[in-house]
Parts: sequence; C-alpha cells; structure tokens
Amino acid sequence: MALTARPHLRRRSKLAIVGAGAVGSTMAYAALMRGAARTVALYDINTAKVEAEALDLGHGIQFMSMAEVVGSDDIAVCAGADVVMFTAGAKQKPGQTRIDLAEATIGLVRKVLPSVVEVAPDAVFVMVTNPVDVVTYAALKISGLPPSQLFGSGTVLDSSRLRYLLAQHTGVAVQNVHAYIAGEHGDSELPLWSSASIGAIPLLDWEGRGGTGPLTATVRDEIAREVVESAYRIIEGKGATNYAVALAGSRIIEAVLKDERRVLPVSSLLDGYYGIDDVCLSVPSIVGAAGVLDRLPVPMSVDELSGLRASAAAVRDVARQFGY
Ligand code: LAC
Repeated sequence: MALTARPHLRRRSKLAIVGAGAVGSTMAYAALMRGAARTVALYDINTAKVEAEALDLGHGIQFMSMAEVVGSDDIAVCAGADVVMFTAGAKQKPGQTRIDLAEATIGLVRKVLPSVVEVAPDAVFVMVTNPVDVVTYAALKISGLPPSQLFGSGTVLDSSRLRYLLAQHTGVAVQNVHAYIAGEHGDSELPLWSSASIGAIPLLDWEGRGGTGPLTATVRDEIAREVVESAYRIIEGKGATNYAVALAGSRIIEAVLKDERRVLPVSSLLDGYYGIDDVCLSVPSIVGAAGVLDRLPVPMSVDELSGLRASAAAVRDVARQFGY
C-alpha cells in the first residue's frame, strides 16, 4: 500500500545565536547536549572564531542528539530561525556593574538586530546581553516587534542560583525547590519568599529537617545577598560567567521550540502588572512557541511589591539615560 503523502511536518527547530563568545558558544553546546534544536546557527563578526566554534561543536555531534551546526560572519546564517538568542555585547570586567555595559551593548543591538529581524522575522527573540532589562526594552523599540515576540533572559539565571543555595541549605533536591527572583537582572532584584516552597511546604514555614536549620530572616537575607553577588564573584575568579547562563538560555530555547508553556521569570515589557508599566522586568511568565504568553500575578507581600516597584524605577531610570 502506497504510503499516503504527508506534508513535511516542519518541526520548529532552528536556533540562531548572535555572538560566539563564551556565553554564545556555551549556549550552543548546552542546547545541542539537551537536544533542544535540530539546527544551531552561530553568527559572529569574528570569522575565524565563529567558524572554529561551529567546527568544534560539529565534531561532537556523534555523541549528541542528531543536529546540524553552522557558523558564519554572514547574518544570513540566521535565516528562518525559530528562536534567536542575542548574546553579543560588551563583556563585564571585574569591578564593573552590568549597567556599565549599557552604552556599548545598546549601540551594538542598534547595529545588528534589525538585520537579524529581517532574515528571521517570525523568530522569537531572546536578549541575553547585559544590562538585559534595559537592552530588552531598547531592542523592542529598535525592532518594532511585539512584546510577546521579544523578551530577555531576565532572572531565570538568578532564580537558579537562589534555588541552588536553598537546596544546599535545606538538603532538598534543587528540582523540588520552587522560588523565583523577580525584578532587574542585577543589583535591585528581589526573592519572592512569600510564594516560594520546599516540596509542598511554604518556604516561610520551613522549620528545618534532618539537621538543617529553619530559613530565618537572617539566613534569607544572606542567601539573597549571595545571589546578587554571584556574578561578581565568578567574574573575579574566572573572568566571565558562562555555564549557568547558557543552561538558563537552553531552558528558554526548549520552552519556545517545544511550546512547553513553562513558567520562567523572563524579562518582558510590563503593562499594568501590579500597576507597573513601560519597563522590562522579570516576573514569573508562561513561555511557549509564541514567546511570552502571559505574566502570572504571583501573590506578593507588601515588602516584595515595593521591592519590585523600586526595581522597576531603577531599570526605567537607566533606560531613560540612554534615550529609551
Ligand atoms: C550573570 C551574567 C550573565 O549574572 O549577568 O552571570
């Protein structure tokens, strides 16, 4: 019996990464290792680097899920992408804050983003470069894309740092720690303690088990401070962060390409979220094939709400300094 002809079911599976530096190339590796994309395209102006990264990754395909890896200094390599991760930008040096990178990064986004949108108009765009909230807001204005289709990696990474520290303190697997960092991916971010839980126990009711102590206000403050200081500490020690931010990016890539509708604290344009408008900030959101589908009205304490509003003001001030 002749097989009935079936239209080729085009799985959404092309990932393009703009920037083949430490973050971009590690993100390509993470996405390939997790079988997140069928095609991974790396773009960078440094021809030798981008071609070498693609070749080195390609040599490992035998050990991963089947995939194709291409790298080029021609923006056409991003053509037809389903998701674009924008990692190109100034590198944070020891002692620098993410905000210090704003001018250089916004200039680069202004130069490169329009041509990527031209070759991949239907892609979901995820800004990763710092300061990511300000860069995301500027990228929305520069690209003219709808706020669902372009967003930032936000505090997905910070939330994984928070969960890592809570898992260490409580002795519970990190996969069973549910806690979010909201606000700026930066110094004004805040943990949403009142909605966090350890397994099925509200975090604020956690009394400590098996030799671990309760999560007192002092412990929580120390953990929150350690999350904010993580990047500075790693940059001081090895010059950059790349592994966890790349894995956080791969989680977002999977949510888009597999339409997972996963709850992730990505940075998107808030429009009346608890009265907060006209700023890109991270709050727990539903991420799927069309990008940011919804922002969840997570219950917050009075302190958390004022912290979120303060973070919004801090990010908005920086955006205004650069004309956005
Ligand atoms: C960090 C960088 C990605 O937090 O901002 O590691």
